[in-house]
Order: sequence, then C-alpha cells, then structure tokens
Amino acid sequence: MTPVIAKTRAELAAVRSTVGGTLALVPTMGALHEGHRSLIRKARELADTVAVSIFVNPLQFGEGEDFDRYPRTFAGDIEACAAEGVDLVFAPTSEVMYPSEPQVTVAAGPMGSVIEGAARPGHFDGMLTVVLKLFNLVRPDVAVFGEKDAQQLALVTRMVADLDLPVRVVGGPTVRELDGLALSSRNRYLSAADRRTAAALSEALQAGAGALADGPGAVLRTARAVLDKAAGAEPPLELDYLVLVDPATFTEVGEDHAGPAVLAVAGRVGATHLIDNLPLKFG
Ligand code: PAJ
Repeated sequence: MTPVIAKTRAELAAVRSTVGGTLALVPTMGALHEGHRSLIRKARELADTVAVSIFVNPLQFGEGEDFDRYPRTFAGDIEACAAEGVDLVFAPTSEVMYPSEPQVTVAAGPMGSVIEGAARPGHFDGMLTVVLKLFNLVRPDVAVFGEKDAQQLALVTRMVADLDLPVRVVGGPTVRELDGLALSSRNRYLSAADRRTAAALSEALQAGAGALADGPGAVLRTARAVLDKAAGAEPPLELDYLVLVDPATFTEVGEDHAGPAVLAVAGRVGATHLIDNLPLKFG
C-alpha cells in the first residue's frame, strides 16, 4: 500500500494525531537503497506505525560539498517505502523545514569536531539540528539509525541522553555490496573503475580486524597497508583518515585499550566522499 505522504507541518500534524500505539521513525535523505530498507524493516519490528522522513538537509552540507548534486529520486523512494509497508512519509521542502534562517542550532560538542567532524566542519551541528527538529515534528517513540554512520549514531544517542529527549535510539547493522562496499546513496556517483578502488575501504577494515589479537597498533598497520596500495591505484584512493576510536566518545584508543572500539575510515575517490567502519572488541 502507498504510504500517506505529508509535505507540510499541517499535513504531518493531521496524520500524526490519528496515529495510535507506538511510532518508529527512520530519518533519511532519500535515494533509498537496501541499507535504508533494512532500517525500515527493523523499525517495523519495533513499533506499530513506521514513518520515514525524506529530506536533503542543506544545514549539514558544507561549502563545496554535494548538496546540489545529491541524488533525488522521490518516485522510486515512495515505491520502496510502499514495498516495505511504510505507513507515513514526511517529505518537507527546505522552506517548510527552515521558514527562516535558523538562529538557534544544536552544537554537537567535542564528539562532533573529531574524525568525520574534522573532515566536515559544521556537518554534525547541522545533522543534529535537523534530527532534533524531525523528532519534535514527528514525535517518534523510537528512531532507527544505521551503524554505517557510526559517529552520527553515537552523536544522536548522546543528544537524546544529554537533552532528555523522549525517544529511544536503535542502531541497525551496515548493509554491504557483495564486494564489501558499504551501500551509500553516493555510490551511484562511482564509475566501474572508481568502484574497484572504493572496495579498498571495506577490505582495509576486514584486514585490520584480522590483526585484532595483536592489538590496536597492528590493526591500524594492517588496514593502512591495504589503503596505501589503493592510493597507488587508478583512480587513486585519497585517504582522509583511518582511526581506531572509542565508540562512546570517538576519541582514539591507545595500545593498551581493552573492550569495544570502532575502526573507521574515510576517503575520496574522484570527487566522491566515502566512509565506512567496523565495530571491534579488544581483549
Ligand atoms: P542518509 O545518508 O540518507 O542515511 C539515512 C540512514 O540510513 C542513516 O541512519 C544511515 O546511517 C543509514 N544507512 C546508510 N547507509 C547504510 C547502510 N549501508 N547500511 C545500513 N544503514 C545505512 O544519514 C543521513 O541520511 C542524514 O544524516 C540524516 C540522519 C537523515 C539527517 O539528515
């Protein structure tokens, strides 16, 4: 069945007021793929009603990033939502979300200025601001986010705790292509040759995980060797970072680290920014 589509605050409020039971929200920027769909299926397990938001949030794109060319595939997205039994799609325009330039925004704090936040200044402030607005407008009981964007998931979890938001945040595992490449709306920018280079990101994470027993330094060295090779490929992988971080704070772990960690990588193939990560456990 086709979901109810709300494009304005008034339409959303009208539908929301008719919803009984619990509601799960999956926030997205559209160009839906199997990764998004896996989160929608998880949402379905967690609540009576499933809502998906589709909004390419200008506030989280930096100068020179891909806001203008970000894929917009609304008709296909609605088909995907219908196939997954989504009840409600909230798809506002920028004018609906930001009737005037926002003066008050969410500050992601120290965890938002490292790793991906250092590579994309302001990105996480813009992301948290729109997620808070979506929570306030849709009022979900539970919200589902992908582990693919591990720092985003950690920051949203932290925002909910620090600001006492009445919503439960649940993570869903990363869905990958057969060659290991994490699904991303940005993968459609990649040529066949780009794809071969991009596969090094997940290969590096897998190789790093193979050195787990030898400790953090060995994990990083092993992963780095795979990335160095891809840096000499055609087209080359331009590495932004490879780090091993504490999943709760996103600060880098030391050689004596025990317990959970996230091996996170980001790089560019041509003009396309790609990220990936793998949760690990030491000791
Ligand atoms: P978007 O990139 O569209 O991703 C929407 C959700 O899908 C995020 O929670 C993301 O982590 C998840 N996701 C993406 N690729 C995935 C994969 N391969 N496997 C599993 N989950 C995956 O992330 C955003 O949008 C925005 O920042 C948003 C939270 C909507 C705020 O604007």
